[in-house]
Amino acid sequence: MIAVPAPLRQRLQEHRQEHVVRWWETLDETARRGLVQQLEPIDFPQITRLYEQRDQSFAVPSPDRIQPIPVDALDESDAALRRAGEEALRGGEVAVLIVAGGQGSRLGFEHPKGMYPIGPVSRKSLFQIHAEKVLALGRRYGRNVPLLIMTSPATHDETVAYFREQRYFGLSANDVFFFCQGTMPALDLASGKLLMDGPGRVFTSPNGHGGTLTALADSGLLARMEQRGVRHIFYFQVDNPLIKVADPLFLGHHVSRRAEVSSKIVPKEGPNDRLGNLVLVDGRCTIIEYSDLPDSLARRTDAEGRLWLWAGSPAIHLFDVAFLKHVTTGPERMPFHTARKKVPYHDDNGRSVQPANENALKFEMFIFDVLPLADRWTVVETSRREEFVPLKNATGADSPAVVEQAISDLAAAWLSKVEVNVPRGVPLEISPLFALDAAELAGKVDRYLRVDGPLYLHDRVTG
Ligand code: UTP
Repeated sequence: MIAVPAPLRQRLQEHRQEHVVRWWETLDETARRGLVQQLEPIDFPQITRLYEQRDQSFAVPSPDRIQPIPVDALDESDAALRRAGEEALRGGEVAVLIVAGGQGSRLGFEHPKGMYPIGPVSRKSLFQIHAEKVLALGRRYGRNVPLLIMTSPATHDETVAYFREQRYFGLSANDVFFFCQGTMPALDLASGKLLMDGPGRVFTSPNGHGGTLTALADSGLLARMEQRGVRHIFYFQVDNPLIKVADPLFLGHHVSRRAEVSSKIVPKEGPNDRLGNLVLVDGRCTIIEYSDLPDSLARRTDAEGRLWLWAGSPAIHLFDVAFLKHVTTGPERMPFHTARKKVPYHDDNGRSVQPANENALKFEMFIFDVLPLADRWTVVETSRREEFVPLKNATGADSPAVVEQAISDLAAAWLSKVEVNVPRGVPLEISPLFALDAAELAGKVDRYLRVDGPLYLHDRVTG
């Protein structure tokens, strides 16, 4: 039977965390190995520091430091900009990154959220819709686009198996890369001790979507992308089927401005819109969470009665690879946010405890903390109708019914541009492999297309 490795025992003692091996003698060989594997990568000095700094929460900047963000309006007909983006795609300089490590607890679906069948007619999953957009881009520009999928321990195995079973939805298996985000332990609020999940297991949870960048670097994928000639990474969240993946106009703008980060924004629908707020803080591009923005600022309006801070974040970004290297390896590593949560745990007497009150500190990184580190950035406007409908809840707002309707509505809008009449209430869907945008659709259908029932346009027109 193995013993606790001496250097590990010493680290545990130094950081007053020896209780985690209290049940060692009762563990079998496999459990012992599992526990050592969990403990080895933990950065104990960091954990200690985070506990000591637990009361220094992320201070919301004082209102006098906050200003509206300047937003660039992109002109759909700007051929030079579009060409710059298309050149980047043709040159193999673009990779697509989907974050899919969340637990999707609000949706209550028993598989990773990306597997949710959301196509209103085809029942294609979110993952299939995204993968087909990537495939269509590769075909259009004659260069395969690498697809990076960030999972978490909760979603990894099932996601990888699903892509394999579905033969990567037509993508080459060599162009699809999975990497798993890191986890963080939780600490007992009163003592700073690591919470246990069982006698041989430390409690851990995903380290937040900000974990994407460190996981990308630590997995070696960032370096691999760089070797492959990738210079820009297009980032979005798995739950948004309307996403314009690596939209050439956005890309062209980002490239021509030599930006380190570019972000899309949508106008907020009201002061209480639950979107992050893109603002300037001390002149730097910053996102302030909706829950952190003081009410007086959220409600403030300009002379015309419009919201003063009107730019909401749909979490759509383009990152420059050199910038990501800098922020993941340099001294400016991403900070952890601390949250007080109720975490069930295994106590020192071997009992499972369901706490009635917040008993734990959990730590998460947020992707948007990287924005203020950029010296060169751009922000462009898009609309929800065209590009943002997140699947979050089982019913009501952001539910499958709302998301399916938005997919249908966008298809109707594209069809109306070629004067195709669509009856109200009919589910519509356009496969990304049929058309990636309204202009491509216009080259394939005309006003003689009759729609009198559910319509799914894919490689052949079917009713
Ligand atoms: P949300 O914060 O909306 O979480 O994630 P969720 O998992 O989708 O849903 P709930 O809150 O449990 O109901 C926004 C995006 O960030 C990813 C999610 O997969 C989603 O694409 N995410 C979130 C991660 O990849 N890792 C995380 O640790 C958290």
